[in-house]
Amino acid sequence: MKKIIAINGSPNASGNTYELLSRLGAEIEKNGVSFELITIQEALSDLKIPYCVCCSSPCNQSCYQGTKMEAVLQKCMEADGIVFGSPVYFGSMSAQLKCFFDKTRDARGKKAFLGKPACAVSVGATKYGGQQSTLRSIQDCCMVLGFSIVTDAEEEFGCGHFGLSAQKPACEDAYALARIPVLAKRMCREVLKSSSGK
Ligand SMILES: Cc1cc2nc3c(=O)[nH]c(=O)nc-3n(C[C@H](O)[C@H](O)[C@H](O)COP(=O)(O)O)c2cc1C
Repeated sequence: MKKIIAINGSPNASGNTYELLSRLGAEIEKNGVSFELITIQEALSDLKIPYCVCCSSPCNQSCYQGTKMEAVLQKCMEADGIVFGSPVYFGSMSAQLKCFFDKTRDARGKKAFLGKPACAVSVGATKYGGQQSTLRSIQDCCMVLGFSIVTDAEEEFGCGHFGLSAQKPACEDAYALARIPVLAKRMCREVLKSSSGK
């Protein structure tokens, strides 16, 4: 069975980003793809330094070997697709999620994510608070890693836009909730036709 992993970039393990990702996960499972949600704050918890200090080039993985982050990276490399979720922090992704991306230099060198489908989800407190620039900041990292970017574009629902944006409280954002099945369907379509991952 194909598998999609979601990375929750919020420090709140059961906040608004979690709410969107878990609803997206339920829709993904309806499309016959298994789903696992990982909170990045937990994966960062046993790292001495969460961000990259560029101690070696190429990366020798010494800062995360034997840590929870190594296990999460391994899961991501084995997954068939990844959903990245982040709260809007100053119009961009959270530092926690950026720390995750900064730990992927070695994986990038191994082309571990090349062609793997990835999509993005963001939630902010304000209606136009930078959700789309947050999606784009995530997509920029995904592009540098060679992922295939997936958006909420689906034949029966139209071309969509950049992925899933919501305003807090996410469970009351009717438009965002309506786009969840669309993004799930498109993401699963890409994952089911992809030969990347296991
Ligand atoms: C450091 C920080 C920066 C933030 N910057 C923005 C912002 O630029 N735009 C916005 O709409 N909300 C901003 N917020 C609010 C969060 O995006 C919002 O509370 C989000 O829904 C939290 O998601 P969570 O419940 O998953 O943690 C910020 C919050 C924090 C803590």
